[in-house]
Amino acid sequence: MVKPRLSLALAAFLAAATSAQAQVRVASPDGRNQVTVDIREGRLYYSVQRDGRALLTPSLLGFEFRGAPPLRDSLRIVDTTRQTADETWTQPWGEVARVRDHHNELKVWVAETGAPNRQFTVAFRVFNDGLGFRYELPQQPNLGDFEITEELTEFSIADNARAWSIPSNRPRLDRSEQLYAASPVSVLDSVQTPLTLETQDGKTFIVIHEANLVDYARMNIRGPRMENRTLRADLAPYADGIKVRGRTPFVTPWRTIQIADRATDLAPSVLGLNLNPPSVIPNTEWIKPMKYVGIWWGMHIGTMSWSSGPKHGATTANTKRYIDFAAANGMGGVLVEGWNVGWDGDWIQNRNAFSFTQPYPDYDLPELARYAREKGVRLIVHNETSGGIQNYERQIDSAFALYESLGLGAIKSGYVTDLTSEGHSHWGQFMVRHYRTVIEKAAQHHIALDVHEPIHDTGERRTYPNMMSREGARGQEYNAWGGEGGNPPEHETILFFTRLLAGPMDFTPGVFDILIERGTGRPRRPDEPRVRTTLAKQLALYVVLYSPLQMAADLPENYERQPAFQFIRDVAVDWDTTRVLEGKIGDYVVVARRERGGPNWFIGAITDEQARTFDVPLTFLRPGRRYSAEIYADGPGANWLTKPLPIAISRRVVTSASRLRLALAPGGGQAIRIRLAGPDPAAGPVR
Ligand code: NOJ
Ligand code: CA
Repeated sequence: MVKPRLSLALAAFLAAATSAQAQVRVASPDGRNQVTVDIREGRLYYSVQRDGRALLTPSLLGFEFRGAPPLRDSLRIVDTTRQTADETWTQPWGEVARVRDHHNELKVWVAETGAPNRQFTVAFRVFNDGLGFRYELPQQPNLGDFEITEELTEFSIADNARAWSIPSNRPRLDRSEQLYAASPVSVLDSVQTPLTLETQDGKTFIVIHEANLVDYARMNIRGPRMENRTLRADLAPYADGIKVRGRTPFVTPWRTIQIADRATDLAPSVLGLNLNPPSVIPNTEWIKPMKYVGIWWGMHIGTMSWSSGPKHGATTANTKRYIDFAAANGMGGVLVEGWNVGWDGDWIQNRNAFSFTQPYPDYDLPELARYAREKGVRLIVHNETSGGIQNYERQIDSAFALYESLGLGAIKSGYVTDLTSEGHSHWGQFMVRHYRTVIEKAAQHHIALDVHEPIHDTGERRTYPNMMSREGARGQEYNAWGGEGGNPPEHETILFFTRLLAGPMDFTPGVFDILIERGTGRPRRPDEPRVRTTLAKQLALYVVLYSPLQMAADLPENYERQPAFQFIRDVAVDWDTTRVLEGKIGDYVVVARRERGGPNWFIGAITDEQARTFDVPLTFLRPGRRYSAEIYADGPGANWLTKPLPIAISRRVVTSASRLRLALAPGGGQAIRIRLAGPDPAAGPVR
């Protein structure tokens, strides 16, 4: 609980001195980022500078409530407290093993000067890579139960920066699954976070997001009024329009502003993780990063069905075939969709008909769980809710107990819906509470989660490492359906600098049948859905788009006799170190990552519709050691549009003194495994 620590004498002194001392500052440990908090005409503002240059001009703080005056006016700063932290912690899995949390904290105690004399605190934590702030509402006589109708937090952007965004106000299914657009801040409408901005001079990158969303509504961003660059928090509502219901003492999620000099410095993003509490799962041994295959792509290209009938994908025999394939190729898991009763008819409308324990008659769940275990593979069952939240919550205890008793270890869930069956926003406090309940119950039953149609990632994985991956953007599935022509070649080069800054994404890369002809057994017309990348780019996505659960999305038969599949077999899914070597939002990304607990590196490079060449010095390798680089490059004449399949696989010896020249085709990519060659004479610890 938060209590003002203010003596009466000090209060009296501060009251007298308010107008003169109504401004306080806190800087990052390196001194470059500075936050100023001040009172102007009774209202509380914060602003942000980097190297003395304004990034955010004074931006309002406060709330509006139902049935109570806004907490916004006649405010004064009554006290401040400061703290510094510097500690390094280890992730059970992630893009990097070790994370440093080094920040300066300033808490600003604020009170109304007249009735109802409420008080609150705004806590700022300023890091070298940005800042977070949150409201803390202590228990007090005139602020007990409350209903927030508006959070007044503003983000007034000093520069008319370029923003990469997806809209938040488009009422339709799966609303994060949209294509990004670039526009100046001044014309933004209503958008989602993470919201990535680049100042006009290209010298500063700013990402607005939130961290530790536990019992609150998701924050979207409302665009500025005309000729202005003031963005505002925009909370997702309950069916009755209320944004958040709570009772003091209460803390909000952190509002985060990541800051970097270069786009390549944005990832890996750890600001949000540092603002989440440490893990509450004492032993995380059972939480395993893995690659998986699944009875899945067949449904999306129309050769299998979720529902019962002749095309039913989730049969016992079919699942055994996938398990055999996974076991033979080092894939840790097999996802099965359409195994459970409820898919027949319109499964979006019939959301309350889903059973999460009863398999279809042609699906022998206990036998398949046994078979998978015997083969060292994990069965991943799918829980599609269609937003039928009460239906799911009614069954969740028995379903998770069943999965645990079968030793499953991980599930995929889905929320194909716009509003929940109860009429609340998909992103409001109602759903935030639901998703949290699922995470907690899954943890109790030793189940890891891969959530589709989720709420955006706010770093939950630090506290609950079983919250492994999620979708929350347009994934590969859009290339099967072809909505808006599928994903354009630039799509993943934007995802890396936007959606992926929030956390891992289950994008489901690795489609080899780029034209979807072998899978469907017929030639495609040019206007039909297809994948809009080269084959080599599909491989590169395993390194570029981080997920601890990484799917090999295509049909197993499409990997047969494909030498390029060796890269998917080899690629790691858990990383010690990540370095972004090159990057321009919407154009290209080159990432190098070292596998967790081993000396081998992987490089992934992707480009948009333009061919590009990169010269990559391998200075990150251990000096004096020889490595073998296994290179999967776009082959002669390759391009995403007319010739996506040529791939050139080669091998060469490299050292830390080598440079690699990466030539990427239009819509292409390159994937490289760099393996330490021979025994290590020094046999020292790996770096
Ligand atoms: C959408 C998900 O993204 C996809 O992976 C899943 O197969 C379908 N919903 C059906 O639940
Ligand atoms: Ca989806």
